[in-house]
Amino acid sequence: MALQQTELRPMGKSIARKEDPRFLRGKGRYVDDVILPNMLYMAILRSPYAHARIRRIDTSAALAAPGVKLVLTGEDLAKMNLAWMPTLNGDQQMVLAVDKVLFQYQEVAAVVAETRAQAEDALQLIEVDYEPLPVVVDPFKALEPDAPILREDREKKSNHIWHWESGDREETENVFRDAPVVVKQDVRFQRVHPSPLEPCGCVADYNTATGRLTFYVTSQAPHVHRTVIAMLSGIPEHQIRVISPDVGGGFGNKVGVYPGYVVAVAASLKLGVLVKWIETRTENIASTSFARDFHMTCEIAAREDGRVLGLRVKTIADHGAFDAAANPTKFPAGLFNIVTGSYDFKAAFVEVDAVYTNKAPGGVAYRCSFRVTEAAYLIERTMDVLAQRLKIDPAELRFRNFIRKDQFPYKSPTGWVYDSGDYEKTLKLALERIGYDELRKEQAEKRARGEFMGIGISTFTEIVGGGPKNTFDILGIKMFDSAEIRVHPTGKVIARLGVRHQGQGHETTFAQIIAEELGLSADDVLIEEGDTDTAPYGLGTYASRSTPTAGAAAALCARRIREKARKIAAHLLEVGEDDVVWDGTAFSAKGLPGKSVTMKDVAFAAYTDVPDGVEPGLEATYYYDPPNLTFPHGAYIAVVDIDKGTGAVKVRRFLAVDDCGNVINPMIVEGQVHGGLTEGFAIAFMQDIPYDSNGNCLAPNWMDYLVPTALDTPHWETDRTVTPSPHHPIGAKGVGESPNVGSPAAFVNAVVDALSPLGVEHIDMPLYPWKIWKILREHGINE
Ligand code: CDP
Repeated sequence: MALQQTELRPMGKSIARKEDPRFLRGKGRYVDDVILPNMLYMAILRSPYAHARIRRIDTSAALAAPGVKLVLTGEDLAKMNLAWMPTLNGDQQMVLAVDKVLFQYQEVAAVVAETRAQAEDALQLIEVDYEPLPVVVDPFKALEPDAPILREDREKKSNHIWHWESGDREETENVFRDAPVVVKQDVRFQRVHPSPLEPCGCVADYNTATGRLTFYVTSQAPHVHRTVIAMLSGIPEHQIRVISPDVGGGFGNKVGVYPGYVVAVAASLKLGVLVKWIETRTENIASTSFARDFHMTCEIAAREDGRVLGLRVKTIADHGAFDAAANPTKFPAGLFNIVTGSYDFKAAFVEVDAVYTNKAPGGVAYRCSFRVTEAAYLIERTMDVLAQRLKIDPAELRFRNFIRKDQFPYKSPTGWVYDSGDYEKTLKLALERIGYDELRKEQAEKRARGEFMGIGISTFTEIVGGGPKNTFDILGIKMFDSAEIRVHPTGKVIARLGVRHQGQGHETTFAQIIAEELGLSADDVLIEEGDTDTAPYGLGTYASRSTPTAGAAAALCARRIREKARKIAAHLLEVGEDDVVWDGTAFSAKGLPGKSVTMKDVAFAAYTDVPDGVEPGLEATYYYDPPNLTFPHGAYIAVVDIDKGTGAVKVRRFLAVDDCGNVINPMIVEGQVHGGLTEGFAIAFMQDIPYDSNGNCLAPNWMDYLVPTALDTPHWETDRTVTPSPHHPIGAKGVGESPNVGSPAAFVNAVVDALSPLGVEHIDMPLYPWKIWKILREHGINE
């Protein structure tokens, strides 16, 4: 049961979420709730073609339509130098199409009118003369020499974007040459979409008198948005205030700057009034950052006894029309080279080639920790292929290959230094809790009866906390994060952070961290995020980075306050500073029992009775540059039964044992795990964004792109082990992404395990019932 927020020493306790009363009672304030006087509404005309030359755009009828104040095309934006914008992965993207369109639903023109309906009606009156061009949706075909060149704006006349590699090619080749066993598996991680409940949107309010832009936007990274808008629009950065109100789910979808935002700012600049733009569901799914679309080939070299030696991975990354993945600059393929996972490989070599196709841009989103989802899925899937080939139990194979506890800090063959972990302990706990041996016995009995039951294991390693300034930046800005804490005279606290939560409970957990450090209760601490005029600069919330970065900043910032408080306490206790002892809730004087002052007493004195030589007030700011990333891990086990007649998979049990170091709030962590598992389940069984050969997006709505309901979702069992991060000030690691990173492989491994008596070694996600039904039928099972 959740505890009251008034508890002292709240660290590690399941304190009730401060944000729940507002969210559960419908009192959240989202960007669409921003309704201001004289606000105009914008709608965007989108391309019906995936690839077409634009011969002419006629906007005259739309301009004459009732209520219409402005119509913008790419040519209009070109005059404002806003026709193209930089992406977060070093590419450029059209804001409104100039000359040609490159994917279906691409932004072509915008109408601003007095009402949203008028703006949408006027869109129908814009005439665009398109000349269809050959379409490329298959990334492999895009690389063929005779493929049409999609990006004519680039000097490089090819659809190949970049090549990236990691590890030691030669050493890996040597290991493979001598290895007694080599398994190879092609694995596709399909195109999916984070699809948060609240789509993207903004209100741009440019005041012509003050030259100030107030920009309300549903954003996971408000400071990054401010900097990008300043660089694009020429408005000085201090004249831009980005406010990210409550965010109705992000999952990576709200990190990037989308064309609609730039057009809304341009319209507000032109008209000098407020312009609101809120996407439809279809616009969100079909044009904003998708996730994954990785075509991977994985090879493992091993000994006969299953001991792994080498790993070789080749990947084609389909980025769509623009390379708009939000990655740290030095990692064009994200942190995909964590693909050696939890296993002690001697050598590894990983290559990724990125490709343009006529599909929506994006690439990194959906709770993926910068492509760790693809990496974890690939290694966990291929380890099972190896187990199957060698007829070794998949749990046993993992035990034989885990990085051992005494090997940490562990340097991986692709250069990461894992901070801590105890993989053996976590898997042992998972096997015991699920009753692995009994399940295997049950499976054997069922197999004998011709039934299909499967058990799937995934023992993943995550990598979160981007990141150390030497290696991590976005657009040159180092990926530190920040906290600013101000203690008021009555001992109540406001803390502002550079991150921006989207439902993760920061208002509770960060209050717990600060309260713990200051001897207060979480109720005494108000957390504010999302307003760039007040919060210190931060890179935002995604990739489970908030706890490793801003969580650390919050703790260290509070410790800074405690150091100053100690000076004031010494004055109040009438002893020297060295004689002041802090016990977690109060300062006392060494050798003077019964004499103590609380942080509240000190706070009051900071404004009323400050000793000479001490600055009045009680506040601090901390910018935290993490020395390393944190490496959470987990052992997940899925148990499935397959219906022979329909191919439907029932997830009978699912156990997630997570290790995210010291836990701030167990209930919130459990909630994060439940949410992430539900998304992982959706990806494994029901989500895909396919395109037909003409580049039509076949799942641009929630009828075709499925989001699981409570009825579809299995019951989740959870547990945890605790291996603190040695370098994080409170020993915590991130957790938000872990369940989505770790679970798809457990589901697929379970289904393949069920079908393994038929010789099945791999099935690409999503595991639709028809796919399984077809396999069963091919083997004469359900004829
Ligand atoms: O960056 P994001 O907030 O999405 O991910 P996170 O840092 O993994 O945190 C998700 C939520 O779980 C936050 O409210 C964290 O404070 C909480 N958490 C926790 O209570 N203990 C941990 N060891 C890690 C996260």
